[in-house]
Formats: sequence, structure tokens, C-alpha cells
Amino acid sequence: MDSPVKVGFIGAGHMALAIAQGILKTDEVIPSNVMVSAPSKNNFHRFQDMGVVVTHSNEEVVQHSRLVFLAVKPHLVSTVLNGISKHVTPQHILVSIAAGVTLETLEQLLPSRSCVIRMMPNLPCMLQEGAVLLACGAAASQEVGSMLKNLLSPCGLVEVGPEAWIDAHTGLSGSGVAFAFVFAEALADGAVKMGMPSSLAHRIAAQTILGAGLLLRDTGKHPAQLRAEVCTPGGTTAYGLHALEKGGIRAATVDAVEAATERARELGRR
Ligand SMILES: NC(=O)c1ccc[n+]([C@@H]2O[C@H](COP(=O)([O-])OP(=O)(O)OC[C@H]3O[C@@H](n4cnc5c(N)ncnc54)[C@H](OP(=O)(O)O)[C@@H]3O)[C@@H](O)[C@H]2O)c1
Repeated sequence: MDSPVKVGFIGAGHMALAIAQGILKTDEVIPSNVMVSAPSKNNFHRFQDMGVVVTHSNEEVVQHSRLVFLAVKPHLVSTVLNGISKHVTPQHILVSIAAGVTLETLEQLLPSRSCVIRMMPNLPCMLQEGAVLLACGAAASQEVGSMLKNLLSPCGLVEVGPEAWIDAHTGLSGSGVAFAFVFAEALADGAVKMGMPSSLAHRIAAQTILGAGLLLRDTGKHPAQLRAEVCTPGGTTAYGLHALEKGGIRAATVDAVEAATERARELGRR
């Protein structure tokens, strides 16, 4: 890829901002080489504050950039791609983050042999702690996938895999964030029931989940091993875990990931 990399975003929403913030942490992209488009000015100030160029023209973004992120809502993808398609060349790399829009659909809407990548981020990308899965289209080489993986690394964990995993990733990680929020809420509810003030309980619940996540990520240990390390025979955690298992937490969580994955599949077929 040319240096410095010219990057464009079609759509100036939450995800575009999160990805732009991540990419600008690398040395490979400078703000004046990034351009973002949207119909209104509503979100432009957040990009302008970073030194990113803004425009109302999606076509200008494609003409300016080699790497183009498509960051509009899924129902707008076909309209937007119809508008830019004539400017897309074999040198472009088009990365769609639109949930449920398949590589096949994207490739059909673009000139043949266009280099297309499907990317599924999650909300913590906003804090550079996201979990991102990339799936390469037919004309996207392994090198392009690796280049993108490097460029996106400040956004969090970035992995490349087959498109068939994208829906499971959505269930695990996109929706999984909300599942973790429910668990945090329930943890705090338990402490409130035991007499702790609500705001303190919520702060401690958040820190507990953060700490557990960091331990999992940074030690690389299996969750069962870490759980065993916390669990003294006859102790508090053993009693608490028994209560959790009686409540069916494990089966309910597997069901939740399965249901979210199936729903992502269903939306993708529409
Ligand atoms: N948010 C998440 O957690 C998450 C996770 C995974 C994937 N995604 C995917 O990310 C995509 C964007 O989501 P988001 O949450 O960032 O949405 P968002 O905050 O609503 O942003 C959408 C952006 O698209 C712009 N837009 C609308 N019509 C356009 C057009 N014709 N041409 C160019 N830009 C246009 C909007 O412009 P204005 O600024 O003028 O309103 C806005 O800046 C979606 O496809 C979603 O499925 C989101």
C-alpha cells in the first residue's frame, strides 16, 4: 500500500469515529489524508477536531481514498454503493461494517473483481478495546487482510476469518457486550439486595467485569482455570457458583449467543 495511506469513511457516525480514532493512532495514517462524508454536518465537528477532512460527497471520498470504509446503516448500503460504484477501481479496498450485508451482496453492487472486505466491530471499539472480525471477499488477498489487521490493531483485538464466522462473532461479541451489561446489572442488584448503595454497587460491578476481562485476556488462561483459582474449597465463590449453575447461567448464555447468531443470519438473508 502507498505511504501515507489515504483513508475514506462514507458515514460519519459512531463506528466511523471509533475506527478513525484507532487508525490515527498508527504512524501509517495522518489526519489530513483521511476524508469522511455524510449528508448533514451533525457529526463533522468530531472528525474536524482530529484534523480529518469532511465533505458531503461520497464520490469525493472514493476519489480521494484507496481504503474506503462503508459506515452507513445497512438499509442504505445499496443506494450508497450505486452512487459510488463508477468511481471504484481495482486499486480500491472497500471495507463494509454494515451488519448483515454479505460479501456477495457487496460484490454484486460493485464492479466485478472489486476488493471487498466485511468487517464486524463492536461498541468497545470506541475505547480502543473492541473485538473485530474481518472476512475477505474473493478479490481481497491475504496481504490486504493482514495490512488491514495491522492498521486496525489500535481498535482492539482484530482477527481475520471466514465470512461464515461473522454471524457468530456478532452473537458473541456485538451482542455479547449487552449480555455482559445484563450480568453487571445483576451483580450490582445482588449487592444492593445485600445492603450496598446502588451507585457504589454499579461502579464495583463494572470494575469487577473489567478486571475479570483483563485477567482473561492478559494471562491467556482458560476461564475454567481462573475460576478454579478464585474458588476456595468450602468458600464463598463455591457457594455462589452453585447458585449460578442452579439458575442455568451457562445454558442461558449459550442460548443467548445462539439466538443472536441466528437473528444475524436471518437479517443477512433479507
Ligand atoms: N454501533 C455499533 O455498535 C455497530 C457495531 C457493528 C456494526 N455496526 C454497523 O456500523 C454501521 C454504522 O453504524 P453507526 O452506529 O456508526 O451509525 P450512525 O451513528 O447512525 O451513523 C450513520 C452515519 O451514516 C451517515 N449517512 C446516512 N446516509 C448517508 C449517505 N447516503 N451517505 C453517506 N453517509 C450517510 C449519517 O449521516 P449524518 O451524520 O448526516 O446523520 C451518519 O453519519 C451500521 O451499518 C451498523 O450496522 C455498528
